[in-house]
Amino acid sequence: MDEVGVILTQSFCDQEEIWTTYRERTGDENFRTLRDGGEVVAACAILPCGQWFGGRVVPMGGIAAVGVPPHRRGRRYAERLMGEAVREMHRERIPLSVLYASSVALYRLAGYEPAGCRMIHSIDLRSIAHRKGEIPFVPVRGTPGEPVRAVAAERGRRSNGNVDRDDRFWVMLTKAIQKQPVFGYLLGSEAEPVGYVFFQQERKEWGYDLVVRDMAATTPEAMRALWSFLAAHRTMSRNASWPGPAVDPRLRGLAEPVHRILRSELWMLRIVDLRGALEQRGYPASLEAELHLEVADDLIEANNGRFMLRVRDGRGVVEPGGRGDLRIKIREMAPLYTGLWSAGDLTAPGAPDPALEEADRIFRGPPPWMADPF
Ligand SMILES: CC(C)(COP(=O)(O)OP(=O)(O)OC[C@H]1O[C@@H](n2cnc3c(N)ncnc32)[C@H](O)[C@@H]1OP(=O)(O)O)[C@@H](O)C(=O)NCCC(=O)NCCS
Repeated sequence: MDEVGVILTQSFCDQEEIWTTYRERTGDENFRTLRDGGEVVAACAILPCGQWFGGRVVPMGGIAAVGVPPHRRGRRYAERLMGEAVREMHRERIPLSVLYASSVALYRLAGYEPAGCRMIHSIDLRSIAHRKGEIPFVPVRGTPGEPVRAVAAERGRRSNGNVDRDDRFWVMLTKAIQKQPVFGYLLGSEAEPVGYVFFQQERKEWGYDLVVRDMAATTPEAMRALWSFLAAHRTMSRNASWPGPAVDPRLRGLAEPVHRILRSELWMLRIVDLRGALEQRGYPASLEAELHLEVADDLIEANNGRFMLRVRDGRGVVEPGGRGDLRIKIREMAPLYTGLWSAGDLTAPGAPDPALEEADRIFRGPPPWMADPF
């Protein structure tokens, strides 16, 4: 672990105290290393969690802290480490894996593909009207409990791609390793929660900006109250930023937002266990559909071949065999599965194809995004 610490501290230009906290939060058991002649030449972490798709949580391995020491780079160590990590997750029956990539090419080699986003939005707080609201705000201290988690679960059910946070992810959200403290508020009451916000204050030459780490509201009134709460900082604070999807439906409630996108981050997803991924996610309750796939996967033998996905009553069942109407690489399945791209986006334009239409009926949904960086 000491060697891992040296590699990661150097790879990410971190201070040593950051590594100490990061190691504590991640847990030694979640780090993986690749050695050559006894020397650690590559490291990463696999964070077990879940991800919401179609109203259900699918187990997911979040890949973080991938590093190779500079004098060892360019020898395929990272590629081998990622291959082993994917094989391990498959053995452990973890159907999905997600990461934020510094190089798309590297992770494509292991079957990952950009499949969702984390856009950082920014708004001029003076463009939000501040109204005294009726909904109470209750400060949240320490790791959030059930009421906040219930709001997050409600948001997860209605959207695609967000992490189903366990204690580790809630700590990562609410206790920043660096910089300013994180302030948290629950909207509504413990018995009837309707939203939450967690944010930091980033000092500017004059005053500070609000850096929202995550916010969620389960009703339009709660969302208006949240905007109003942010606007109440505007004597000292000019802008607020927050993570969201590319086009954030939360902006709908504002009359004239002065808004822009500060940063765009794509996350990559790997379908590790095809059958588990298709059977554990949810689908629209009214949908009845059948898709015949022929899948190719260089790394995981069990994902290869023909499969039939039958969707009914919000659930999917996979059986081997079928006609193989939609021929697809495992990498291309990722943005189809999350709903980032339509089946038509993934293929060359051509005549209308019933298999592509069927795939779209099954997988199209709210655009996939994620609030949590890791
Ligand atoms: C990114 C990193 C882990 C790559 O390690 P590595 O062992 O040198 O990578 P590999 O030799 O296995 O590379 C395999 C393929 O990945 C891609 N790749 C690797 N490094 C890349 C880079 N810096 N830029 C673009 N593509 C890269 C290439 O396609 C490469 O194949 P090629 O050499 O045939 O072109 C290493 O450069 C590193 O530790 N960087 C600093 C920390 C970091 O960025 N971590 C990743 C965070 S997501």
